Amino acid sequence: MIKLAPSILSADFSRLAEQVSLIEQGGADYVHMDVMDGAFVPNITFGGLVVQSMAGRTSLPFDIHLMIEHPEQRLQDFITPQTEFITVHQEACTHLHRVVQQIKSLGVKAGVAINPATPVSALEYILADVDMVLVMSVNPGFGGQKFIPSAMVKISELDEIRKSEELDFVIEVDGGVSLDNARALEAVGTDILVAGSAVFKAEDVPERVRQFKKL
Ligand code: DX5
Ligand code: ZN
Repeated sequence: MIKLAPSILSADFSRLAEQVSLIEQGGADYVHMDVMDGAFVPNITFGGLVVQSMAGRTSLPFDIHLMIEHPEQRLQDFITPQTEFITVHQEACTHLHRVVQQIKSLGVKAGVAINPATPVSALEYILADVDMVLVMSVNPGFGGQKFIPSAMVKISELDEIRKSEELDFVIEVDGGVSLDNARALEAVGTDILVAGSAVFKAEDVPERVRQFKKL
């Protein structure tokens, strides 16, 4: 069954813990946390302090998406007992191989994200080392944008490579995910859907999570 990682970017930040308990009630699999620095992406969100403060407030594992420059300088800030994945952007890492090893040495799983204009081939020599590939289906920085269809092609490409080379990374998709495209995303090989506005802007958040999980 496909997993769901609701992104708190679209949640009400004045009551974050309550909002996360709503997705937990609905049966979400992860909490997706979007860290933005105003440099790699035009927006600023939150850093390690907020992530640390959420540890123990939910039993869901954390899926940390770093949209920051020099992530290698900040990895430790995002380590909590609940951190399962830390994902960095291929475009933000000059020494991607080293950063991936650093993440793993901290005892968590390592993910690499690619922007809409970055080809899957840019990951050729790192795929064997990563636990997750995050395919961005919008330009990172904001919630509520329109899904860019070429992400589908990239996901099936990754799924084929994974099968032919017997690799075991999971494929996550992030941006413009809705109930309308979730099934198609699963069909091309997605393991984890990230959904921000489609979950947190719903009238009934736990019910929306259940709808995703039922697909
Ligand atoms: C965008 C973030 C996403 C964002 C997705 O840069 O990485 O996780 O929350 O939001 P929606 O689902 O609204 O497109
Ligand atoms: Zn994200």
